[in-house]
Amino acid sequence: PSGVLLTGSKYGCGGGGCGACTVMVSKYDPQTKSINHSSVNACLLPVCQLHGAAVTTVEGIGSTKTKLHPVQERVAKAHGSQCGFCTPGMVMSMYSLLRNNPQPTLEDILEGLAGNLCRCTGYRPIVDGYRTFCESENCCQLNGTACSLANGNGSVEPIENGQPELFRKEDLLPLDPTQDLIFPPELMRMAEIKD
Ligand code: FES
Ligand code: FES
Repeated sequence: PSGVLLTGSKYGCGGGGCGACTVMVSKYDPQTKSINHSSVNACLLPVCQLHGAAVTTVEGIGSTKTKLHPVQERVAKAHGSQCGFCTPGMVMSMYSLLRNNPQPTLEDILEGLAGNLCRCTGYRPIVDGYRTFCESENCCQLNGTACSLANGNGSVEPIENGQPELFRKEDLLPLDPTQDLIFPPELMRMAEIKD
């Protein structure tokens, strides 16, 4: 078979509006010696613009065959995926955000996901899964009052508004930014030579 055959990134609209095709593009700037990561709509990105850039798709950050990335694990365990078609795009928007800002606020997360549409979940469980990446997370709607997780008393049965929670934060893989994919060194050399 020819081509790369990575079917994880989806086609939802072709107009840049749904985010189902979101991937991360990374470029090295030899001037500032820094690497820039951005989330982009693959449906609108001509491949001829990608000379010297690294593209990361949902398959690139983790899989059930090896190990899921926390961004993948959290949206799944928080019930943020129903039909699943928008999920790769959600995952890559959140992944790109964390590559630039490993300690986002809730506002950063909402902004990061603003270009991603979901027809199934109502967004609530996606945001609930991802707000676990926030340092000062309010784990429930009570803004930390009367919450066993927020006050750290280690209750085995976290209660939200009198109901058991749908997932437990303690069961989630920690985010370890030191284990993220490295930028391909050959592309760094290529950029230095061109400079
Ligand atoms: S397919 Fe909808 S934004 Fe690319
Ligand atoms: S889970 Fe179906 S579109 Fe988001």
